[in-house]
Amino acid sequence: MFPTLGTVSPVGNEKITAERIRGLKGAGFAALTAYDYAMARLLDEAGVPLILVGDSLGMVVLGYPDTTLVTIEEMEHHVRAAARAKTQGLLVADLPACSYETPEQAVATAKRLRAAGAEAVKAEGGREILPQIQSIIAAGIPFLGHLGMLPQHVREEGGYRVKGKIPAEREGLLADAVALQDAGAFAVVLELVKPEVAVEITAAITIPTIGIGAGETCDGQILVTTDLLGTSPDYIPKHVPVRPELGRRMSEIVRDWKDAISCPN
Ligand code: KIV
Repeated sequence: MFPTLGTVSPVGNEKITAERIRGLKGAGFAALTAYDYAMARLLDEAGVPLILVGDSLGMVVLGYPDTTLVTIEEMEHHVRAAARAKTQGLLVADLPACSYETPEQAVATAKRLRAAGAEAVKAEGGREILPQIQSIIAAGIPFLGHLGMLPQHVREEGGYRVKGKIPAEREGLLADAVALQDAGAFAVVLELVKPEVAVEITAAITIPTIGIGAGETCDGQILVTTDLLGTSPDYIPKHVPVRPELGRRMSEIVRDWKDAISCPN
């Protein structure tokens, strides 16, 4: 499906696996979120090689204040919808908050998401969840790491803030990235990591880094799709580069149509 829009894909026309994403070190690739069939199709037709059913769905689809309330049942429902698009791009799903407290629970949750149609899973954290990550990978499920600002911990943290500004955080992030690589993760998302530290991490590991609000020098970039399109209902983060005001245009279309309806008599 990729070439239909005339896009240049770094991955060709074959089904994209986690191993293909692992091989995109230095390639510069895009990843975006999808929460349903229609958006997964649209991203796939645009040639996006990694499509994430992110738990950001809590905020941008379900109306929760943050990602911490998203349940495994909600994730399964949205993964099933996105998986019906049978994307060429790799379909990754987030393990929701509190669903990977132990290695056994992590594997059980990852298996549920796989059964729903995800081809790989992502969880937030580094060395503190290493036994869980090792168990997921040992169960044969490809794993995407997520370091830096961890939205599932936003309540303890008291907000979204840039990570890696102090030496202890920088060292911790580097050690976590190496631990994820050594455990067998195929790539790692760096969220709100100080750009200089993201550069260091990218140079220190052989798997791709995928930045979000972490500067422009990671191996790939990921965004919440509704942020990119300008349709996120409540808030669009500062790091989002394009604001095409699609949300406003959608509302104009609805208003124009509504106003054009007149009584037939
Ligand atoms: O849930 C999400 O959307 C994410 C981001 C990194 C894109 O995890």
